[in-house]
Amino acid sequence: MEIEQLEKQALTEIENCPDSGQLEELRIKYLGKKGLVAERMKTLPAKAAAERKTFGESLNQLKNNIARALELKAEAALQSPSSIHLDLTLPGTPWTTGHLHPVTQTITEIENIFQRLGYSRSRYGEVETDYYNFEALNIPRNHPARDEQETYYVGQDTVLTTHTSNGQVREMEKGLLPIRMLNISKCYRRQSDITHTPMFHQFEGLLVDQTASITDLKGTIDYFVKNYFGPKMQSRIRPYNFRFTEPSFEVDVTCAVCKGQSCTTCKDGWVELGGAGMVHPNVLRNGKVDHDKYSGFAFGWGVERCFMMKYNVNDIRLLYSTDLRILQQF
Ligand code: DAH
Repeated sequence: MEIEQLEKQALTEIENCPDSGQLEELRIKYLGKKGLVAERMKTLPAKAAAERKTFGESLNQLKNNIARALELKAEAALQSPSSIHLDLTLPGTPWTTGHLHPVTQTITEIENIFQRLGYSRSRYGEVETDYYNFEALNIPRNHPARDEQETYYVGQDTVLTTHTSNGQVREMEKGLLPIRMLNISKCYRRQSDITHTPMFHQFEGLLVDQTASITDLKGTIDYFVKNYFGPKMQSRIRPYNFRFTEPSFEVDVTCAVCKGQSCTTCKDGWVELGGAGMVHPNVLRNGKVDHDKYSGFAFGWGVERCFMMKYNVNDIRLLYSTDLRILQQF
């Protein structure tokens, strides 16, 4: 058969080939070791030198054309709907579902606990004036208490909230008494180590009423500790000093690791939760609350800190690492 005729035949057969199995048969038929092209190659040495060259070239051309046609047909077959196999017996691909970040979960949990005590959530901006963040809380300019807070100043008189206590005087200024406020918000401080991230969350409780007492404060702390950490967990208050409360306390909770037995992660079975106290008369005055009639208590604790204490996580930065191996555990 003439080369031209052979090519015509091959291309027609390839074009009409119905599936990839038969395409492979055609490849073997034409391009295989014992195929029709190879058969003609074998006749080359017997040809006269002049003819050998042109015949060889046409054979090569033929081989390339058939190979190209096979390739194109195979590609087209892949894209045709009949080549998509649907096997209904294969097991399905499981859906991967995400969940809320542990800090968000903790915030909801805290909010629910205090809601049962009649607290409602307030929200204030994260950029705050120096006045509400410090001065209204009895922390004047140049007072050393400011040093502890490692403040980010965004202007001469504006800061990123260093604590949620900034909500205290703002809440009082609303003029609605009594007050049971829960201010949960992001706070910012220039600190980064195993127990600090520059952004973290605090929740601030503020109660102002005609009969608010230290006993009420202690009862509230206990209620939170038992509901969040567990019914067997206890709390204690120790005298401390904060500018905006008088008296002020540091609150401790039973160590979750040793259950109060004393271990290397705690102080004699106690772990520090945060600050609390009776609202200072100056702060009530700044909030236009009559401090002869009203008294109040306040507390401000870290959201991440509570979470870490409960689950014995020792590095706060893990919470913001976006490492799914950590996040998936909660
Ligand atoms: N704002 C304090 C801090 O971030 C914590 C604090 C202490 C809040 C005593 C209070 C309080 O409401 O009464 O260090």
